[in-house]
Amino acid sequence: SKMLWNGSIIDRDSLIDIEDRGYQFGDGIYEVIGVYDGNFFMLEEHLERLERSAKEIKLTLPLHSNDLIKKLKQLIEVNQLKEGIVYLQVTRGTAERGHHFPSNNTTPNLVAYTKLEETMKKEEDNGGIAVLTEDIRWLRCDIKTLNLLPNVLAKQKAVEHQAVEAIFYRGDIITEASSSNVFIVKDGEVYTHPANHYILNGITRRKVISICKDLQIKVNEETFTVQDLFSADEVFVTATKLDVVPILKVDDKIIGTGSPGKVATEIIRAFRNTIE
Ligand code: PDD
Repeated sequence: SKMLWNGSIIDRDSLIDIEDRGYQFGDGIYEVIGVYDGNFFMLEEHLERLERSAKEIKLTLPLHSNDLIKKLKQLIEVNQLKEGIVYLQVTRGTAERGHHFPSNNTTPNLVAYTKLEETMKKEEDNGGIAVLTEDIRWLRCDIKTLNLLPNVLAKQKAVEHQAVEAIFYRGDIITEASSSNVFIVKDGEVYTHPANHYILNGITRRKVISICKDLQIKVNEETFTVQDLFSADEVFVTATKLDVVPILKVDDKIIGTGSPGKVATEIIRAFRNTIE
């Protein structure tokens, strides 16, 4: 298939140099953008977040937003992607290894490629289980950087327990999950960690919050504890392409009735209406 490399759509066979700073330092940022029925889902929001991540790590994007939108649309068209994702990453470029930023004439490397991926309909309908794991990440989880080792270790723990997610706690507080945001429902109201430096402000999270407003479900962007999670009526996680997945059990504790809850089911139905 084809990939986007800086401004050009080329065959996907190019090698990344061993001194690409993403490869050596994780010195870069990324986005995973959902494609449903041949259309991007909330593309502008993803690119705005990319721009913010770039600014926070002092990296200048090699393409302007409008050009990037055009190229990304062209990419899914030439690859004829109907259901899946586009993975987009930008590193600080290729330069002789040294921790500090390379000289000003080093240009960032932007790559994007497509991946076929079905929507997690089965998980959305049936729910899944999760495990808890300590949040050992740095204090800028709001930046979508390539440094994902803590997330990798957490997700591996989930997989070893046949769980869909590993949910992070920092002290007493639930932050988010290894690659998704966490919501709980208590007495008909929804709670999710505020969008600060402890979590990634998910695009799906924002969509779910706006859906709740439409459905007149009260959303509290407030911290909640591990104990609150265990005693919640419902728990669900949200992410690109995962959409909204009910969590029925966390470690050995059954959540609510142990089946997908009323609020999550309502949100999933509304979410599907916005993408169809
Ligand atoms: N991950 N929190 C973390 C730590 C994430 O990595 C992600 C997404 C989310 C959800 O964000 P969004 O709704 O914008 O996808 C929250 C992507 C999917 C990934 O790394 O593959």
